[in-house]
Amino acid sequence: MNSPTKPRKLPTQAIAAKIFHSLNIISLFLMLTSGLQIYNANPVFGGRAGLHIPPLFTLGAWLAGGRHWHFAAMWLFSLNLLGYGIYIFITRRWRHRFVGVNDIKALQKTQNPQRLIYAWHRIAYTAIIPILLLAIFTGIGMYKPAQFPWIVDSFGDWQALRIVHFASVPLVVIFVIIHWVLGRKAGGEKLTESMFW
Ligand code: HEM
Repeated sequence: MNSPTKPRKLPTQAIAAKIFHSLNIISLFLMLTSGLQIYNANPVFGGRAGLHIPPLFTLGAWLAGGRHWHFAAMWLFSLNLLGYGIYIFITRRWRHRFVGVNDIKALQKTQNPQRLIYAWHRIAYTAIIPILLLAIFTGIGMYKPAQFPWIVDSFGDWQALRIVHFASVPLVVIFVIIHWVLGRKAGGEKLTESMFW
């Protein structure tokens, strides 16, 4: 006789991890869409007649609206990232989160698909941190160029600074897709769900 199927329990996650994760998604969504609104006012690729982003992907309706959203959400985004950094440092979670020699060895030797997923996932986690920090660094350079002219200078000129800042958009989108796919492969929908509630 078939036993009745038990509802599968969600894997447990620390409440702090769920909060950081949810705030990160919300703030990144706001940063991305409001950033694209700012971009549209004077596209770095081709100027006013250049490549525009469809309104569906923008937030703020016009330049000033986009800037208000961008500069409000930057606090949520940056402070959440800082809080997450302090959290994984204090709880020593950073030791298991980022790529290590064992992951590189696994990529070369193991046939175990689950182990490969973990290795690729740690590479993705490791790569996104400098990408997010670069978004903050270049963002500060554009936000306060009079106070931090050396940030602008370190990229050569204003245009280069804008392009590097803009690069965070495709890089974040690529990370989200990879993270999503690998998360589902590692633990299915239940694992993904457990990261939010
Ligand atoms: C991953 C997060 C972020 C994304 C995806 C993002 C995206 C963008 C995009 C697409 C633009 C338009 C670029 C252009 O055409 O010149 C922009 C502009 C800007 N961003 Fe960000 N950004 C992020 C984080 C930040 C942070 C943390 C700060 C501040 C510390 C910041 C400050 C600025 C400033 C000052 C501008 C120019 C505003 C203007 O010219 O009026 N951004 N951002």
